[in-house]
Amino acid sequence: TTQLIRTAEELHSLPRGGRRAVVMTMGALHEGHATLVREARRLVGPEGQVVVTVFVNPLQFGAGEDLDRYPRTLDADVEIAGRAGADAVFAPSVDEVYPGGEPQVRITAGPMGERLEGASRPGHFDGVLTVVGKLLHLTLPDVALFGQKDAQQLALIRRMARDLNFPVDIVGVPTVREGDNLALSSRNRYLSDADRATALELSRALLTAGASAGEGPAPVRRSALAVLDGAARMEPPLRLDYLALVDPSDFTEVPDDYSGEAILAVAAKVGTTRLIDNIPLTVG
Ligand code: PAJ
Repeated sequence: TTQLIRTAEELHSLPRGGRRAVVMTMGALHEGHATLVREARRLVGPEGQVVVTVFVNPLQFGAGEDLDRYPRTLDADVEIAGRAGADAVFAPSVDEVYPGGEPQVRITAGPMGERLEGASRPGHFDGVLTVVGKLLHLTLPDVALFGQKDAQQLALIRRMARDLNFPVDIVGVPTVREGDNLALSSRNRYLSDADRATALELSRALLTAGASAGEGPAPVRRSALAVLDGAARMEPPLRLDYLALVDPSDFTEVPDDYSGEAILAVAAKVGTTRLIDNIPLTVG
């Protein structure tokens, strides 16, 4: 059975067997998270240990974002994590993680943290890296797994581990999608049927543009924007935040004569729900 752990003290008395893998989440677990847990189990084997963290991190939410209405479903999360192969779920309180309130000393994401998601959500990635750093120190894993769904987050965590010498392997896991290609997200549960029909245009734009990858960056951007323009006229409309074709190592826009690996990333609002998606492409 899966052990539910609430405090750092309990976590530290958890016996260590073989290799330890950690999957960090904010809960409201779905098949995307479950896939990370199964991959974690596969990596460490039956002798290893898989720890899932569930913590809705206030530090990474901006004013006016959905911190207060973020779904909290701990009982179901323990069940899903356990079925996917977790040995333990670490679900600390805000006080346990931030005793004495918000930390004064934090991790700064730097320039990569100010682009795309970072431009739309100032301070978001500092909040993410600070909690990921803390959770790495609390759980002391050999390997930590993160989804490609949050491609910029994954790139920044890799960069943090390298720049600050975190002794951990960071492993990326491809985005898990529903049958209709909508990327699984805890926020999908906010979508009405009409919202969802509009939201589907996000993945459709990416997949359509992916078919032009061989023609270079300009055709890729153009074909994605054509789909997104159509979605802006749906009811409810898709309200585009950004579409960008970026270098996976630093999230800067690639020039029109670029050829090589790139990420086509999109963010938009449908109603009050903000959604992001991306696909890796080989362009040119
Ligand atoms: P959360 O949004 O709960 O996501 C937890 C992990 O699951 C992240 O690594 C995310 O990329 C991955 N994930 C989410 N949806 C996925 C999908 N459809 N396919 C594959 N992986 C998916 O990301 C966070 O929480 C937080 O920022 C966190 C890293 C826990 C720090 O607070």
